[in-house]
Amino acid sequence: NKIVIAIDGFSSTGKSTIAKKIAKQLNYIYVDTGAMYRAVTYFALENNFIGDGFFYSEKLIEQLDKISINFKFNDIKGFAEVYLNGKNIESDIRTLRVSQFVSPVATLSEVRRKLVEQQQLMGKDKGMVMDGRDIGTVVFPDAELKIFMTASAETRAKRRYKELLERGHNLSYEDVLENVTTRDRIDSTREDSPLVKAEDAIEIDNSDLTIEEQLDTILDLASH
Ligand code: C5P
Repeated sequence: NKIVIAIDGFSSTGKSTIAKKIAKQLNYIYVDTGAMYRAVTYFALENNFIGDGFFYSEKLIEQLDKISINFKFNDIKGFAEVYLNGKNIESDIRTLRVSQFVSPVATLSEVRRKLVEQQQLMGKDKGMVMDGRDIGTVVFPDAELKIFMTASAETRAKRRYKELLERGHNLSYEDVLENVTTRDRIDSTREDSPLVKAEDAIEIDNSDLTIEEQLDTILDLASH
């Protein structure tokens, strides 16, 4: 019997790496909800609704129904890529610029309502691994398995820095650390659906765990 596995936690805790592998192993669908908030942010940046020192949130809210987000499986990469109004934006949303504006965008209730609704529809047939910040608390409060991933801020920033360098981005470790801690603060203190561990979530601190060890732990939990 197929279940919903909710994986929440702070920025750059390696949620998506693990979630993708679990989905593959169990033959489940994987949904990266952060990619959806990033897609809305990319749209806001492209339309100059947000930028350095300004955020015309009413304009973004007004245009929300012009935003259509989809996922399409890429057979070569082995995971689903995100599309905004038909355009593949998978690599455009991974920049530090999008990372810097995504948390303010994600505070808007109108944005959250739209994305949560879409996420709930995607999970209606079960057999799904979904990662984000509010999956176990808001999107699927009845998920059969909830994981809350943590790791020290330095561990997380180091991982994210390495990943961004490998993708060819030119930036400093300090900027990455600053982004990770700022996003955590905004995500944890916002009014609508703040990032908190669901009461029934199992916390995994993966600072000193290998990917294999995390996979084994979660797959074991999923089989009970
Ligand atoms: O997971 P990722 O780091 O790509 O998420 C980017 C941002 O999107 C988070 O920092 C958070 O502000 C927002 N987010 C959210 N709720 C989710 C997923 C992401 O608010 N379920």
